[in-house]
Amino acid sequence: MTEIKVDFNRPVTLGRELEYIQQAIDNGHISGDGPFTKKCHTFLERELGVPKALLTTSCTHALEMAALLLDIQPGDEIIIPDFTFVSTVNAFVLRGARPVFLDIRPDTLNLDESGLEAAITPGTRAIVPVHYAGVGCEMDAILEIADRHHLAVIEDNAHGLFGKYKGKYLGTFGSMASQSFHETKNFTSGEGGALLINDPRLVERAEIIREKGTNRSRFFRGQVDKYTWVDIGSSYLPSDILAAFLLAQFEQRQKIQLHRRQVWEMYYAGLNDWAQAHDVQLPQVPGHCEQSYHMFYLLLPTLDLRQRLITYLRERGIYSVFHYLPLHLSEMGQSFGGKLGDCPVTERVSDQLVRLPFHNALTGAEQEQVIDLLQQFPF
Ligand SMILES: Cc1ncc(COP(=O)(O)O)c(C=O)c1O
Repeated sequence: MTEIKVDFNRPVTLGRELEYIQQAIDNGHISGDGPFTKKCHTFLERELGVPKALLTTSCTHALEMAALLLDIQPGDEIIIPDFTFVSTVNAFVLRGARPVFLDIRPDTLNLDESGLEAAITPGTRAIVPVHYAGVGCEMDAILEIADRHHLAVIEDNAHGLFGKYKGKYLGTFGSMASQSFHETKNFTSGEGGALLINDPRLVERAEIIREKGTNRSRFFRGQVDKYTWVDIGSSYLPSDILAAFLLAQFEQRQKIQLHRRQVWEMYYAGLNDWAQAHDVQLPQVPGHCEQSYHMFYLLLPTLDLRQRLITYLRERGIYSVFHYLPLHLSEMGQSFGGKLGDCPVTERVSDQLVRLPFHNALTGAEQEQVIDLLQQFPF
């Protein structure tokens, strides 16, 4: 085994994480919805200006809650980008939905809104755009089409906390949005997520679904004198220990985002000429988008070069990874009728993409090693 010199991801504490965990224990409240969870909710609501934020055990679970809140029924269709994580689609398929996979734009790798209208049928219920790498989808066009066809928009904003589209935070456009606090994200609690609710009519039922289908939240607010089973639901709330860790990370918002911006810009500046010389595509961020600085990726000219590059770096102790495989070509995707050629941009990008090491403790010296090695890569 080659010694790891630069890891792809490394979890680190950045402030009061351990102190807050101890406080959660001292509070005598380590189950869900304790004082730290409430502070995380307030933080997200205040910073983003959303009516309601609810922490969940993962982004996957926030998406499952969104599917329940939309009352997705067997046979309903949802439109999603083909290039995304399995949870974006699985949350809706769990309710019996039929996924319609849309290809992505070759520049931002986001859902290609030019094909959206043609994908809508009388069975369509929702559009689930994913802000890939925290760069906003073309929300003006997506919302205009969704409004005209009376479709819900649920933003999968797993990567995009604090990114903006035309000056407005990602996650504040759809009726709901999901966030991820998995260990690879800018802000983490190991595993974790949140559901942002922009349509206030959904809030009360969201609280019920998150609490096993009971009106427990209303009981704790003194709005009912006992709590009981009132709807379907599950256990989607994280322990206050995780919320304690997450709050400490939220408190370092400026520091984390500044560091990640510097990491991104160092890769970009260090690799731009090299990329142009070797036909490698770097991330593209349209002028009207402010990205979240979640990741840095390269698109190599071919699959063979991408595989060789990952191996070359790994043999030298540097861990880089590829990302999503085309959903329509997965076993499940094919069972929904997906076949080769349906989404050509996704099929190409999935072969070409490599993500470079990117985390909150990455040093300039580590990045220099990565950039130097890339520049010596024998094409
Ligand atoms: C676009 C997208 N959506 C959803 C998820 C699932 O997130 P989680 O691991 O928090 O469930 C991921 C995972 O990274 C993702 O990339």
